[in-house]
Amino acid sequence: MGFASNGSAGKALKFLIYGRTGWIGGLLGRLCEAQGIDYAYGAGRFENRKQIEADLDEARPTHVFNAAGVTGRPNVDWCESHKVETIRANVAGTLTLMDVCRERGVLVINFATGCIFEYDAAHPLGSGIGFKEEDAPNFVGSFYSKTKAMVEELLKCYDNVCTLRVRMPISSDLTNPRNFITKISRYEKVVDIPNSMTILDELLPISIEMAKRNLTGIWNFTNPGVVSHNEILQMYRDYIDPNFSWKNFTLEEQAKILAAPRSNNELDATKLKTEFPELLPINESLLKYVFKPNQKVPAA
Ligand SMILES: NC(=O)c1ccc[n+]([C@@H]2O[C@H](COP(=O)([O-])OP(=O)(O)OC[C@H]3O[C@@H](n4cnc5c(N)ncnc54)[C@H](OP(=O)(O)O)[C@@H]3O)[C@@H](O)[C@H]2O)c1
Repeated sequence: MGFASNGSAGKALKFLIYGRTGWIGGLLGRLCEAQGIDYAYGAGRFENRKQIEADLDEARPTHVFNAAGVTGRPNVDWCESHKVETIRANVAGTLTLMDVCRERGVLVINFATGCIFEYDAAHPLGSGIGFKEEDAPNFVGSFYSKTKAMVEELLKCYDNVCTLRVRMPISSDLTNPRNFITKISRYEKVVDIPNSMTILDELLPISIEMAKRNLTGIWNFTNPGVVSHNEILQMYRDYIDPNFSWKNFTLEEQAKILAAPRSNNELDATKLKTEFPELLPINESLLKYVFKPNQKVPAA
């Protein structure tokens, strides 16, 4: 599973991070500072191979973290009407980065997505049977997910890549509009479906540890178990705002306001939990990393 990266054999760590202006990329830089890890942000655009090569040659990193790509603003529906731009960054660009790193023997921790699956007959909602790392994607309902699934398949050929399937990321910053909790607390109506999710405060430090261990291959990068929209909003009401209320609607009603369907699924986190036994179940992680640190409602 380990890649013979130039980060091994006791050499001092040096990370090169893509996604300086992004949510996850920004958090990674702050974590490196807190942990005293030498790092730099990549300046190159993915569509320009020479710029990426120049970044690698200048920084000479032991590891690259890829938290860059287009995610769409205000949401992934943007990708439906910007297909070529999506391919340029998320397909051609991402593959270029991986290829340049492979030429130089550098391992890449790649923040990918787990939104490439949807509940099906073999993995029904509520069953506790999650999709495993070796399962082939079955959700291509949105252009964003379709291209991410294609790239995941191609990246299996690159032995220098560690693909992290992130889902519905949540952080303790409840003011960040990208935070899944912030998003659903501001929607007029929300569906109520259990999903696997990624608590960034717990899992981003784990991604750094994965680099140190030179881990490669595909990893379901979510906390074990599932949590539903309503369960999260109930915690929000209990810990943050006792007057908070919300309205639900069905998937069919939701479909009318979206350009593309969204993925709902459970990922099997056994592989990550086996490597990191301290990994908390999603409900416990939500309380420890998000709701208790932000608690505004006095404990009963
Ligand atoms: N947020 C989510 O809900 C979510 C869920 C699952 C997976 N992920 C994945 O995690 C990764 C990071 O997500 P995020 O939420 O942190 O994204 P984000 O906030 O949208 O940031 C994306 C970053 O990518 C950079 N970028 C875009 N196109 C680029 C290009 N062609 N070349 C170089 N850099 C480029 C952007 O830089 P500029 O501002 O300069 O363009 C920005 O720094 C993405 O691949 C995303 O698919 C995110």
